[in-house]
Amino acid sequence: MQGKREIPDAVLEAVIVLIALGIAFAAAIAGWAVGRGHKQTVTVTVGTTAASPTSTVVDPRVAAGAHDFATFACAQCHGDHGRGGVSPDVPALTTVAASLTPAQLRTIIDHGLGESANPQKPYMPVWRGVVSQHQVSDLIAYLRAGLPAVPTAEPVTVPTNQGAAVAGAALYVRYGCINCHGPNGLGGVPNPQSPDKTIPPLSGAAFRSQFNTDQKIIDVIRSGSVIGKAPIVSMPHWGGIIPPAQLAALVAYLKTLS
Ligand code: HEC
Ligand code: HEC
Repeated sequence: MQGKREIPDAVLEAVIVLIALGIAFAAAIAGWAVGRGHKQTVTVTVGTTAASPTSTVVDPRVAAGAHDFATFACAQCHGDHGRGGVSPDVPALTTVAASLTPAQLRTIIDHGLGESANPQKPYMPVWRGVVSQHQVSDLIAYLRAGLPAVPTAEPVTVPTNQGAAVAGAALYVRYGCINCHGPNGLGGVPNPQSPDKTIPPLSGAAFRSQFNTDQKIIDVIRSGSVIGKAPIVSMPHWGGIIPPAQLAALVAYLKTLS
């Protein structure tokens, strides 16, 4: 049986490699052709509805900032396109560019705002070391452009009716946990000024023995934990931001990790 399977597998592999090479070659040709037409610009459709006929060119930095805004879960606290409405403790960002200079915006994003040793409500996290300086520049360009809609720069969708662990895996990305705690909760993201030197993993024996009940995990996500002032990155306070059902889904997902 084993021998009979090996030959078709090898043939199949060769065919897949050939197809992949073909696709890569076609993509390279297409990319070259497109590159000739639109140097340095990205053409995207901007509009509030998918059917909008308006098509315009978005500055690549603004587009990158819009994607960063989704990746780092800014929208989960500050609302879609920074319009607020998530929590009374988190301001909208729609007029922030008019009231703050780029340098002030950079300081706030790098160092955070409103934290205390024992957070009772959401604070602006310290992002320096997690969000790169290049990404901060792109975020500032996006804020100063008025947080326009940029196609596909959306938070990941959370599947419904597929179980809590599946929803939790999507929420782990949607709330940006993955940026600080790593894929699969493996940790390893540097936090050089903190006692551990890294942001802790959410998997492994040490995590499991310290956080041995669902409630302990939920409590630390809700409360957050400020280790110290910037440049130390701390655990954001998610109470009032992440609803209870989503907290339970996050825990269900974390329990699937090794
Ligand atoms: C965990 C929730 C949370 C997340 C995530 C978050 N923020 Fe904030 N942010 C806050 C809170 C709360 C404040 C208000 C702090 C204060 O004034 O005490 C704030 C303030 C700000 C301000 C200053 C607004 C003003 O009017 O003074 C800016 C700018 C800002 N955030 C940008 C961002 C960006 C960009 C991201 C993504 C990289 C982000 N925030 C992610 C909670 C959050
Ligand atoms: C800005 C980076 C950042 C983000 C985003 C973040 N965390 Fe954390 N988290 C931390 C840091 C730093 C600690 C360590 C806090 C401490 O030691 O007091 C921590 C601690 C934790 C802990 C306790 C583990 C331990 O060993 O102390 C859990 C559980 C946790 N985070 C879950 C989450 C979940 C779930 C999300 C997404 C909703 C999330 N975190 C988002 C930085 C972050």
